[in-house]
Formats: sequence, C-alpha cells, structure tokens
Amino acid sequence: MISKDEFRRALGRFASGVTVVTARDASGRLHGITVSAFCSVSLEPPLILVCIDKNTGSHYALAETGSFVVNILRQDQQYVSDRFASYLPDKFEAVGYDLGIDDLPVLEDALANLECRLVNSHDGGDHTIFVGQIERATIGDGEPLVYFHGNYRKLETD
Ligand SMILES: Cc1cc2nc3c(=O)[nH]c(=O)nc-3n(C[C@H](O)[C@H](O)[C@H](O)COP(=O)(O)O)c2cc1C
Repeated sequence: MISKDEFRRALGRFASGVTVVTARDASGRLHGITVSAFCSVSLEPPLILVCIDKNTGSHYALAETGSFVVNILRQDQQYVSDRFASYLPDKFEAVGYDLGIDDLPVLEDALANLECRLVNSHDGGDHTIFVGQIERATIGDGEPLVYFHGNYRKLETD
C-alpha cells in the first residue's frame, strides 16, 4: 500500500476543475463545500458523482435531504473556492445565489450549475460517493477554474 504522501503527490498530477457543492440540511441550514472530486457518470440517465469527506460539515446534509447542486466555478472565482473550503460560520454571506430545486442555493456567475436529485450513495473509504441525477442545468460561457499540483491554474488559450 502507498503512503498518504505518495497518494497526495500522485493524485496532484491530475488536473481538475473546481466545483462548489451546495445543499440544505433537514433544519433548513445551508451548506457549501469546495469539491474537485466531481465526475460525469452516465448520459442516459444523466448522472454525475461527487466524493465528500465523511468528516466535513456538509456530509450529513447531502445524505439527509437527498438533493444537491454542483456549481462549476469560473477562472475568476478562486475567492469562492477559498471561501467554501474554509471553516467560516456563514460561507454564503458574501456570495450571490438564487434558489433552485428544493430551495437549494444555485451560485450566481458559475460556469454551470447542475441541480441534482441524489439517487445513490456508496462507501468510498473516508469519503462517500454521492451519485446525483441532473434535474436542471444552467450553462454559461467562459473559462474554468483549474486545480493542479496543489495550486489554482489558468487554462492557456491561444
Ligand atoms: C481545490 C479544493 C478541492 C477540494 N476537493 C474536495 C473534495 O473533492 N471532497 C471533499 O470532501 N473536500 C474537498 N475539499 C476540502 C473541503 O472543501 C473543505 O474540507 C471544506 O472546509 C469542508 O467544508 P464543511 O466542513 O463546511 O463541509 C477541497 C478543497 C479545495 C481547496
């Protein structure tokens, strides 16, 4: 088995986009978490997955209410990523959003918003793999925020 350090160094070689997954717990409190472990799963039906650390505050909210939104961030939204990766008591204070399915926060100005119904969850070690069916999508134009080797990057466009 490889060490945690080797795992981090190896996986850091994989470039990804950055998303913020938003949810609401049974009491109505909003949750949001920065997530790079996001992936397309199936076209028919339209499924995606996100992997959420079991120790985060957002984990139970996704499991509890059965719906969530994946907000795919733009290049200029690094501050949004930092905010939702922090322990701030109210991460939504300085961030604009509308309400989507199940009154979930749909972040403004994202590159895309995917409003999902939770259809399955699977154990994934210290994470849970949440599979969602996309009910509604908002699609914008622009460049994505990229994460690689522990840093935010910009796509080189020519
Ligand atoms: C670029 C980036 C990517 C991240 N990706 C994930 C991820 O895929 N899954 C996860 O559980 N946490 C991920 N995190 C860490 C969470 O965003 C962080 O633990 C957050 O503070 C949890 O918030 P919460 O406890 O309020 O839910 C990532 C952080 C950053 C900066």
